[in-house]
Amino acid sequence: MAQNWTPNSWRQKPIQQVPDFPDLAALSATEAQLTTFPPLVFAGEARRLKNQLANVSEGKGFLLQGGDCAESFAEHGADTIRDFFRAFLQMAVVLTFGAQQPVVKVGRIAGQFAKPRSSNIERQGDVELPSYRGDIINGIEFNEKARIPDPERQIMAYRQSAATLNLLRAFAMGGYANLENVHQWMLGFVKDSPQAERYRKLADRISETMDFMKAIGITSENHPSLRETDFFTSHEALLLGYEQALTRVDSTSGDWYATSGHMIWIGDRTRQPDHAHIEYCRGIKNPLGLKCGPSLTGDGLIELIDLLNPQNEPGRLTLICRFGHDKVAEHLPRLIRAVEKEGRKVVWSCDPMHGNTITLNSYKTRPFERILSEVESFFQIHRAEGTHPGGIHIEMTGNDVTECTGGARALSGADLADRYHTHCDPRLNADQALELAFLLAERMKGGRDEKRMVVNG
Ligand code: TRP
Ligand code: MN
Repeated sequence: MAQNWTPNSWRQKPIQQVPDFPDLAALSATEAQLTTFPPLVFAGEARRLKNQLANVSEGKGFLLQGGDCAESFAEHGADTIRDFFRAFLQMAVVLTFGAQQPVVKVGRIAGQFAKPRSSNIERQGDVELPSYRGDIINGIEFNEKARIPDPERQIMAYRQSAATLNLLRAFAMGGYANLENVHQWMLGFVKDSPQAERYRKLADRISETMDFMKAIGITSENHPSLRETDFFTSHEALLLGYEQALTRVDSTSGDWYATSGHMIWIGDRTRQPDHAHIEYCRGIKNPLGLKCGPSLTGDGLIELIDLLNPQNEPGRLTLICRFGHDKVAEHLPRLIRAVEKEGRKVVWSCDPMHGNTITLNSYKTRPFERILSEVESFFQIHRAEGTHPGGIHIEMTGNDVTECTGGARALSGADLADRYHTHCDPRLNADQALELAFLLAERMKGGRDEKRMVVNG
């Protein structure tokens, strides 16, 4: 067990991004109530995810992680969850087929409610109010009352996470994710896009393979892996009082686990080695993500790895790199070299969203071609360094939104106003997400062919 650690030892450390709760007694009462609630996930599931990520760190698999920038109470509904899951399954199947490798599926969902902010204050005209920090903390409406942090929202977030997870488990295990349904995951608004044609062709090939297997006696009835999939949840562990309340001892191993989600990550703004967020995360046994931005040095990264993964356990740590399309070539190689030199086992994942945000027509947006460009560079750099480009971390939705510009439908700055629904950062819509998956599949296939050429001589 981590030395001198308890679920509340983070409270002795300096901390960033804390909401200003006006009623601390009410906050404590809510946290006490949360400690009595059932865990959302089991330790055994988190270990299973860690094992899958361990394979990825050894070059045998790919991590697909994605979902909303921020989940919201207002958009909580069965259709939103289902459409997200469909878009996600489509990406997963495209990647599995293209890369011929297992895809580890992790949603940024069922707990992704708290947001770090660059400023404590939001100004509109002459009015200044506390910034919106995610639905688990305060309301997005621009008025004084909504912006007051309210602990009761943590209970709401917990219950919404439980309901979302319940539906996702049913989809993943109850037949919806059956490969026999590969044609049915297509979303209505994607049907006439260029991606749809590509997807249909791929789905035809899978169906044909399934028919062949059925003829020789391998069916989804006698092979559960054809009809079920492991789907895991993740979120940024930002609101530590909430995380602490859901931190539980696993009775089989005696270890502490965060039971708010399978995987949690530490943001680029809260990764100071001697501060609260690192302190909390080092003591729990879940797989962890660490966001790596331009200010992280090679030595700084090794210091954090020493704290978060002192045993060098494969699958424990995923480095989620978010530099920007024009900065990735400057920053990623030094981190890879530091990790390789010290022999640390990590999963390298690319977040091509957060370094590529611009403002256009007063909307926060992300040009799709910059997102693709960061992904391309990420792959090229790993090929050059001889390391495994192990995953992708994206903000996406199954809804037909207009938040990122570009893509095959060439969304323009003027289109952003049409369906700009995000509660925080701009997300890829299902069409753009699918286009990205095809590009990734091609790159992964390229890597595979290259390796084969080396092996064959
Ligand atoms: N169980 C396998 C997996 O999760 C195959 C599979 C079943 C699958 N349903 C899927 C793959 C949906 C991708 C998408 O990889
Ligand atoms: Mn975001």
